[in-house]
Formats: sequence, structure tokens, C-alpha cells
Amino acid sequence: MGAAMGMVMVMLAALLASFAPSARGLDRGEFPPGFLFGAATSAYQIEGAYLEDGKGLSNWDVFTHARSRDIKDGLNGDVAVDHYHRYMEDVEIMHNLGVNSYRFSISWARILPRGRHGDVNSDGIAFYDRLIAALLQKGIEPFVTLQHFDLPHELEVRHGWLGAEIREEFDYYADVCFQAFGDRVKFWTTFNEPNLFTKFAYMLGMYPPSHCSAPFGTCNSGNSHREPYVAAHNIIMSHAAAVDNYKKNYQAKQGGSIGIVIAMKFYEPLTNATEDILAAQRAMSFEIHWFLDPIFFGEYPKEMHEVLSSNLPKFTAAEKRLLQNKVDFIGVNHYTAIYAKDCISSSCDLNTYEGNALVLAIGERDGVKIGKPTAFVGYYDVPEGMEKIVKYVNLRYENTPVYVTENGYSQYSNNSMGDLINDVGRVNYLHGYLSRISSAVRRGANVRGYFVWSLMDNFEWAFGFTVRFGMYHVDFQTQKRTPKLSAKWYQNFLMGSGPVNTMENMRTDI
Ligand code: BGC
Repeated sequence: MGAAMGMVMVMLAALLASFAPSARGLDRGEFPPGFLFGAATSAYQIEGAYLEDGKGLSNWDVFTHARSRDIKDGLNGDVAVDHYHRYMEDVEIMHNLGVNSYRFSISWARILPRGRHGDVNSDGIAFYDRLIAALLQKGIEPFVTLQHFDLPHELEVRHGWLGAEIREEFDYYADVCFQAFGDRVKFWTTFNEPNLFTKFAYMLGMYPPSHCSAPFGTCNSGNSHREPYVAAHNIIMSHAAAVDNYKKNYQAKQGGSIGIVIAMKFYEPLTNATEDILAAQRAMSFEIHWFLDPIFFGEYPKEMHEVLSSNLPKFTAAEKRLLQNKVDFIGVNHYTAIYAKDCISSSCDLNTYEGNALVLAIGERDGVKIGKPTAFVGYYDVPEGMEKIVKYVNLRYENTPVYVTENGYSQYSNNSMGDLINDVGRVNYLHGYLSRISSAVRRGANVRGYFVWSLMDNFEWAFGFTVRFGMYHVDFQTQKRTPKLSAKWYQNFLMGSGPVNTMENMRTDI
């Protein structure tokens, strides 16, 4: 090869490398103006104050007390990380971090302790009024979820998500919130990950009300083959009712937008055999299309009809009409990609999250892991999955704007304080995933925001306090918040004046 040719090759390689996400620095300036950068939390996981100021019991309050054996460390969210009393400090933390938005959820039982069967709790309204005021004062846009797994215990006992009555309950609750906060809240999501919690609650029996049947587990009651779909149907229609109300009665005067948040793994076929390719598609259907196809197209996906037949509810003509309202955006919670193995042509253990799709999710192929493992079982660091998932959602759902409403990395709580604070793994993870969003946006993907899960360590559902997702370390005894390296990295990205690499040029004064 001549010298000139050699030079051209070197320059070409350098040019290509400059487009490879891991090689180039990540620069906030590459994102469109108005892009939301934030952190996310949810009420039960952080607030505590579980019986204060008129709050009613939620299903999670009762579940964690009655079935502490089902929580890894036997603990609960009674105090959680005491955000109810420390919200001012937490808002200050966010201000220092430089986020322009904060995603949090409202505790239904704090607003309506007994659902429609009792009064609105004005102290509950007052708490969120104070929180919203503190955020806006610091220029932080509230991004509010109405339902993030918790609901008033009274409603759980009456019918939970299995009774159609829940639709009016949710519609009423949403209306109270639009009325109380909608003059200041411009981003609403109806549900957080209903596709995930209905499986944990009604298929695997691991979340309240702990329903399941074989092969998914042994519970006192339930039908894992039917109930998740009945609950989902009621949730889809509850969502539709709230969106209809918002669009008809609030949107024009309040000027906000409304969407829904879905948990989205990206499923890759384990092999290139047709069976595994179809298995990956089926897994995507059971994960994503299950909720978004009805919301966009008024019908469940064909893969679900095929596998579930009469266990899948049908939409009536009136329900389809209500579903014609469009969501303004889709919330994507994305943590991991995973391989999908077909379980129709071969036998598998189906007592898993993907079991209802007749799929086994596997983290490795030919002895090679799909990405670096994290402390959360089944979650790997696979940054390219992020670019794939946002493009997939844009393509399938009419290029509707996407907000990445959760993305984050977990550590084992029992690591040393030094290791927890020096969270290099999280810095690498966030850098990788955000780089992929940046590259998707550069290539035209319709993504409008990104939220790290989570602002701070908190109560991780069935894992209790045994894993930590926060950019801020929380001492669960003293409630002291301490920034981890990832907080400093995020701050550098948000407030710095140029590109950040994973670790270079870090400000450490936070
Ligand atoms: C949920 C969060 C949870 C996070 C990490 C999501 O499934 O929305 O509440 O803490 O993932 O597991």
C-alpha cells in the first residue's frame, strides 16, 4: 500500500472512530434545544410518611407488612428515604445536578385515601403543591406519573385491577390531579410500566395482590393465564378514560401533554433460527405491543391472540372509540437487551417474566454474555439496545415523540461505601446509553428527553434496600445523601461547557 493510500486509511479510521459512541465525548450541545434531562423516582420508593397527614394505606403498605418474607430484606417503604420530609433538600440536590426536569409519581392513597369512597385529602394535595412550587422555583419541570405500582388498599380489596370499576376510580383520581396541579404540570403519564407490574402482580404473584397459578407459582388465588390480561384491559381503558378527559377538559387551557410509560427490554433472537427470530418478535409483542397496539391501533397484537386465544379480552366498539384519542408521547423505560429463545419448539422452564410468551430470556450466547452484568438479575449493560429500542418505537408507533423515562444501573447494597460512591460501572453505563440516544437523535430519532433511574438510592420493591440505583447514595439509617461519581459525571455533562468522556475532566466540587 502506498504512503498516500495508507494516510487515507488512517484518516478514514479516525473519522469512523469519531462516530463510534464510545470513542467520542458526549456533549449536551448535540441534543436539540428543550430536550429534557432529568432523574426519576416514584412515591412509594422514596416518600415514606406512610401514615402521615391523612394518607390512606396503599396496597404496597399492606403487602410489605403482611408478606415481609416476599421482600428480600423483609423491609418496607414506611420511611423509605424520607423524601416527604426532605423534599426541599432533594430539590436542592437536583438543582445542583443541573437537571431541567424531575420525574416523580403521586401517591394515589395520599390524594384519595379511600378512592372515590371518601374525600380528597387536602394535606396530600398540599404536599405535591409544595413540591411542584419548589421545583418550578428552580426551573425544574415536573414530569408526573399518576400510577407507579401503588393504589389505595381499599381499592385493592374491593376489586384491584381485575374489576371494571377501577376504570372510573382511576378516571376520578386523574381528574382530581389535573384539576389540582394541571396549571403547573405540563407532562403527565397515566401509568408506569403496567406491562411489568401486571405480570408481577397477577402472573408471578410477587407484587400485591400476589395472584398466580402453575407453572408460575403457588398462590392462594389467581390464574396466571388470564388475570394479567384482564388487569391490563382495565388499565388500558383506565388510561383511555383519563386521556379522553384530559384532552376534552384540560389540555386546551392547561397546555400540557399526556402519555404512558412502558417497560421495554430489547429482545434479540438467541440464534438465527426462524423459531428464535419469531420468539424475539413474540417477546416484543408481549412486552410492548400488548399495551401500545391497543392505544395506537385499537387491537391487541396477533401474536398475543395466537398464544392466548380466549384468555385475551376483546375490545368492544365503545372501547375502541375511546381508544381513538392519541397519546402525545410514549415513555420508554429501558435498562437491558436480552436474548430470546423459543419455547414452542423446545422445552423450557416457563416460570419466568417471558414465560407467557413461550419464550426464555437468556443473558448469554455461546458462553458470551450479552453485556456486562449488573446487580439486578437479568439486566446487562448493552448500550446499543437503547438506540434500537427508540428507533423501534418510533417506527412502529407513528413517530410519536419518545421520552426515555427510566434508564439506570444497580449496585449491591452490601458493597463497601467506597465502592458504592466510586460507581465507575454506572458512569460507564450512563455514558454508553446516553451516547446511543445522542447518536439516535443525530440520525433523526424522535426522542425528547432522558431520565436517569434514579436520583437517589431507594426502596427497590421485592428487593427491598438490597440494591441501589441512585446517583446519590442514601444512608438508610441517617438518610444522609452523598453524591456518587455518577452524580458528578451527570453534572459535568449537564453543566459543563464541552464534551464529557466517561471519566475525564470531572468537576468534583458537587
Ligand atoms: C420501575 C422502578 C424500579 C426500576 C428498577 C422499573 O421497573 O419503574 O420503580 O425501581 O425499574 O428496577
